[in-house]
Amino acid sequence: MQFHSLTIAEIRRETAEAVSLLLDMPPALAGQFHFAAGQYLTFCAQIGGEEVRRTYSLCVAPSAGEWRVAVKEITGGVFSRFVNRELRVGDVLQVAPPIGRFTWDFQAVPAGRYLAFAGGSGITPILSLISTALEKGPDCRFTLAYGNRDARSIMFLETLAALKDRYLDRLQVLHILDSEASEFALFNGRLDRAKCDEILALLGDAAGLSAAFICGPGPMMDAAEAALIGQGLPSERILIERFTAGAPSAVAAAAVQSLAQQAEGTELIIIHEGRRRSLRFEAAKGSVLEHATIAGIAAPYACKGGVCGTCRARVISGRATMVQNYALTAEEVAQGYILTCQAVPIGDGVVVDYEG
Ligand code: FES
Repeated sequence: MQFHSLTIAEIRRETAEAVSLLLDMPPALAGQFHFAAGQYLTFCAQIGGEEVRRTYSLCVAPSAGEWRVAVKEITGGVFSRFVNRELRVGDVLQVAPPIGRFTWDFQAVPAGRYLAFAGGSGITPILSLISTALEKGPDCRFTLAYGNRDARSIMFLETLAALKDRYLDRLQVLHILDSEASEFALFNGRLDRAKCDEILALLGDAAGLSAAFICGPGPMMDAAEAALIGQGLPSERILIERFTAGAPSAVAAAAVQSLAQQAEGTELIIIHEGRRRSLRFEAAKGSVLEHATIAGIAAPYACKGGVCGTCRARVISGRATMVQNYALTAEEVAQGYILTCQAVPIGDGVVVDYEG
């Protein structure tokens, strides 16, 4: 994974807890950093003597000609605290080019009907998707259900209002606030299953949506997904972007740990950038990714939590198992793809190919 030094051109406070960062993009790198709506950048910084990597979604449409991400400070969040409190205009961060599959070809369905459920900072990729959908699909319509604590914690409130003004008939924005009462019951509370069902009933014909996008806290995403599936929207038209994963179940973690113990001392072969390296698997080191990193292989990664998919590789000989997987489809797993940050080999001589 190749990082580039990019200078912070602007730091804009979006809410009391979040800022957005505008990156200065040298013309020579603009091609490599070309992105599709909904994709994210991987950042790398040395904080307190440790290398910290995080992914943040681009919150603007590709047509905006700028690279901007938003970072909300979270309790105990090393990188988000650093960005919100210490980073200054003119500072340089290491940034890898955009990736991600939370995206859609809006030109292919010019009169598409779209819906997004967003919670908190989950608005960032969805803002990019909404702007792009309305721009690329001249007859498309978009509904956003956006959950927040109160009006002051809504990120991009003015940007959303400006989009609404511009696309009056085609964009509908529903702000759902859980600590601020509105006279309309629909707008009060959380985006839980009952609220998502209520919104879908209001919209009508949820099964006929061209696509639905979901990004926000875990319980909200689960509720929105279940509500959409309950209304008959096929899963291939439901796109979900996770920023974090819950802790793996104790049973799954124990099962993988036991397989790791059985693989102790076996040969693990890693192919990266055309080079084949033979390593000795040691359960105490952890995942396939940890083995690669400790051996000095520049294997790609970002979240190390089974969420982003950056560490994807393919098992081309033997088998491996994962603790948790929020990034690969069932089809990819069947094809032998693994998230190396979550994987341990099963048995001897497993070959993992990062270019596979
Ligand atoms: S590094 Fe994100 S899924 Fe492995």
